[in-house]
Amino acid sequence: MSDGEPRAAGVARILIDDEALRRRIAELARALDEEYQGDVPLLVGVLNGAVTFMTDLMRGMTIPLEIDFMAVSSYGAATQSSGVVRILKDLDQEIEGRRVVVVEDIVDSGLTLQYLLDVLERRNPRDIRVVALLKKEKPNAIEVNVDQIGFTIPDEFVIGYGLDYAGKYRNLPYVAVLDPCIYAAE
Ligand code: IMP
Ligand code: MG
Repeated sequence: MSDGEPRAAGVARILIDDEALRRRIAELARALDEEYQGDVPLLVGVLNGAVTFMTDLMRGMTIPLEIDFMAVSSYGAATQSSGVVRILKDLDQEIEGRRVVVVEDIVDSGLTLQYLLDVLERRNPRDIRVVALLKKEKPNAIEVNVDQIGFTIPDEFVIGYGLDYAGKYRNLPYVAVLDPCIYAAE
């Protein structure tokens, strides 16, 4: 995307354009193909934010795989993690003995992922790995193991490519920093 093109209202600046996303996700998909050669991994997408990443990631993979989704809520309409996580939608299938790949849009405080991994580990999968498109550089984030990270980004609130602010902006084809005027006005 060139700088002259119009941007959606609410976008302060584009952080990762669609071309960069495509290239990096293709690399992640190839790495998963190799890692799970001979197995049928279950990709678990975390709704709603990971939906765009999940569909691009799985289309980049060539080995047989299955998908399922979980929905958890930790934020409401705020831009800071509340630390309170609830399961809004659980998996449709058992994961005992399965090789599970958690597909997350972004790891911020790490609280959501930590909670999710605790829940899934108790169901005795063969193993669990985590692929996150984005990880924020945050000094006080909790230590949670992310096996593959698409991009490490500064500690700013981002939107687009599945990520929302108050439910909106998920359809932007790039990852952008949210214009602070949007939440300052509330
Ligand atoms: P955490 O529990 O603080 O790691 O936050 C994880 C979840 O919060 C992610 O899966 C996102 O849905 C959401 N989130 C965290 N940071 C952002 C952001 O910058 N933009 C949009 N959503 C975010
Ligand atoms: Mg999320």
